[in-house]
Amino acid sequence: MLVAAKGHYYTAEDGRSIYDSFSGLWTCGVGHGHPKIVEAVQRQVAEMDYAIGFQVSHPKAFELSDKLLKLAPHGFGSVFFTNSGSESADTALKISLAYHRAKGRGERTRLVGRARGYHGTSFGGMSVGGITPNRKVFSAALLPGVDHLPHTFDLAHSAMSKGQPEWGAHLADELDRICAIHGGENIAAVMVEPAAGSTGILPPPVGYLERLREICDRHGILLIFDEVITAFGRLGAPFGADRFNVKPDIITTAKGLTNGVIPMGAVLVSDEIHSKIMDNSAPGIELFHGYTYSGHPVATAAGLATLDVYKDEGIFDQARGLETIFEEHIHSLADHPKVIDVRNIGLMGAIELAPRDGAPGTRGLDVHKHCFWEQDLIVRNGGDILQFSPFLNSDSDDLAMTFERVRRSIDCVG
Ligand SMILES: Cc1ncc(COP(=O)(O)O)c(C=O)c1O
Repeated sequence: MLVAAKGHYYTAEDGRSIYDSFSGLWTCGVGHGHPKIVEAVQRQVAEMDYAIGFQVSHPKAFELSDKLLKLAPHGFGSVFFTNSGSESADTALKISLAYHRAKGRGERTRLVGRARGYHGTSFGGMSVGGITPNRKVFSAALLPGVDHLPHTFDLAHSAMSKGQPEWGAHLADELDRICAIHGGENIAAVMVEPAAGSTGILPPPVGYLERLREICDRHGILLIFDEVITAFGRLGAPFGADRFNVKPDIITTAKGLTNGVIPMGAVLVSDEIHSKIMDNSAPGIELFHGYTYSGHPVATAAGLATLDVYKDEGIFDQARGLETIFEEHIHSLADHPKVIDVRNIGLMGAIELAPRDGAPGTRGLDVHKHCFWEQDLIVRNGGDILQFSPFLNSDSDDLAMTFERVRRSIDCVG
């Protein structure tokens, strides 16, 4: 049980200070309890705790939207606020369908995701997502008309890659194959994480995202980047789209938008999408979608303060500067006999452990437990894959300490 959090540490119920190697759950890039964000939230909750967001609104929702758009790649003109990454994913999918319909192309209803993709736990994101255990219990109720690209991970070709693997761009061509089967003109959108996170960090192969963009353009399909993890400095840039220099039509965000302090997500759409939907809707409500807490005043205050901290403290540059150091530290585990892969991009990285015979996943879980109980370190594991999402403002000593402890735990658990 964790009972408090400050800076880079949690306090456990037994009083121990625990270093957080995952910065929350990819959320708290500038550390826990940043004073400027805390103060903004306290001030806002006292001034206006809630404002209805239908027909009326409040200024901070527009300020945050403006600030986000200034940060976004050129051509993004509107923001739809949500409360989580899952809601952002479903919102993006719904906006894609609404856009094609507004253009008079209502036959474009099919959606494409990717194996090992994660887009949250709602029905849309779960259907387009490709993580088997998340889907199989609910398979009877998944959305119809969804196809999946293959994932881009292959130990034989790209083990121990640093940054983007050289191998795998051709896997984007699978989209052409899906278009050939269904007719590209029937596909509304392709949704991918620019660098997959929750499935164990799969950086995109060199040229892969460019190829997806080109195929989408050729068939008139919208490209959605799910940037719930990759936005706000995780890749040393405002968005993954900037890092990879590939511009999607829709970007989904959450997590780092408020540094994890208050739940909030935002979906950024291109001017073209926004104007088509607004101009072609019947009089009245343009898009029948929205949440009670969309643009919640306390969340927007947290978001505004967070974006200010990113700017004032030069956080994205700091993260970019730390990337090579992080890469060196995480790859120092590559020689360990129980490690079968190490991979990284920006400040996201994974160490994949060899599974125990007949008991896959147990070694990773044991490392997680050993780190927590014996080394005062939070390490996230997904099965045998140890995942790392260091604070954007960490330093080399933090990283050295993290990976020394991880090595010790892997040694100890057998
Ligand atoms: C890429 C991506 N999309 C969506 C989500 C879902 O976000 P939430 O848990 O806030 O619903 C996550 C969560 O980790 C994510 O990594």
